[in-house]
Amino acid sequence: MTDAANTYSGPQRILSGMQPTGQLHLGNYLGALVNWVALQERGAECFYCIVDLHAITMPHDPKALPDAVRSAAAAYMAAGVDPSRSAVFAQSAVPAHAELAWIFQCVARLGWLERMTQFKDKTGKDAERASVGIFTYPVLQAADILVYKATHVPVGEDQKQHLELARDIAARFMREFDCEGAFPLPEPVIQGPGARIMSLRDGTKKMSKSDESDASRINLVDDADTIARKIKKAKTDPEPLPETAEGLQNRPEAANLAGIYAALAGTSLETVLTEFGGKGFGVFKPALADLAVAKLAPISAEYRRLTGDPAEIDRILQRGAERARAVAAPVIAEAKKIVGFWG
Ligand code: TYM
Repeated sequence: MTDAANTYSGPQRILSGMQPTGQLHLGNYLGALVNWVALQERGAECFYCIVDLHAITMPHDPKALPDAVRSAAAAYMAAGVDPSRSAVFAQSAVPAHAELAWIFQCVARLGWLERMTQFKDKTGKDAERASVGIFTYPVLQAADILVYKATHVPVGEDQKQHLELARDIAARFMREFDCEGAFPLPEPVIQGPGARIMSLRDGTKKMSKSDESDASRINLVDDADTIARKIKKAKTDPEPLPETAEGLQNRPEAANLAGIYAALAGTSLETVLTEFGGKGFGVFKPALADLAVAKLAPISAEYRRLTGDPAEIDRILQRGAERARAVAAPVIAEAKKIVGFWG
């Protein structure tokens, strides 16, 4: 991990992204989107992309990809991203991401990528058959961030290692080419009880789009009955909720449900346990279901409204891409000059 000092003095900028694969779920919302919106509301300059270049590192259906991008854009906006303030765009619409990724591939070291746990998780024993893209995936992620000189990156806990790599790449680029201060060392914004939402079927596994059980996750588009049913069926243990957070140790399912409640209510785990400590899941689950429905129903209604007008989503993505290209253009030009490209 880099211990280089951050000597960058440019403006604060926020960048984050999600893969347009599968439906966005509660983990994406509480781990990332909530913080995206909070940063936007604080007046920061925000870039929120849909990472379709990353999506093709795994087998995908080319016919379904454009709609998956529109659907992710609609979910961002339904969750509160305002495209008149934050740039919402497809990563593939800004070629500078891929250009900077190539430069960074020549800066990052093979050993760094070999240590990435997500690569190991995604490919398992089949690493030899994985695409090269899935291996260099985190380098493209570093380019996504640094092509805007983004200083802050709101993500869930699972992205921490990729963010450290982005800092390492920025630091090495500046050392190697003697251009200190050219890039910020981007700071991850990983905060709140929503940073790591686990599966409803197994509290030791991350809630994920790729889990084959739909009951393991709450999708942002689930209707009220589905949300309530999934919470009712969520795995728990027979004990009542404890009164303090220490009492959640070795109780992954209880910890997860209490964490989801805290994140949805915008409060701390301690506050939730003060209210529900000593109460069983027969009381807690209906309260959680009511809260989840109250928070998510407006999002899913807005999502449905937005996806009803794909032409408008395309206009928003166009405008977002124009803004993003304008900010990325001088950065990629500077990076090309630093490495000595002709012209
Ligand atoms: P992705 O598409 O897997 O997830 C999008 C965001 O949702 C967060 N997240 C979660 N947070 C809490 N609990 C969970 N169970 C959970 N599942 C997902 C993720 O941490 C992420 O913030 N590599 C990224 C996409 C990416 C990116 C970037 C992110 C590409 N370029 C540049 C930031 C900056 C990914 O696969 O996210």
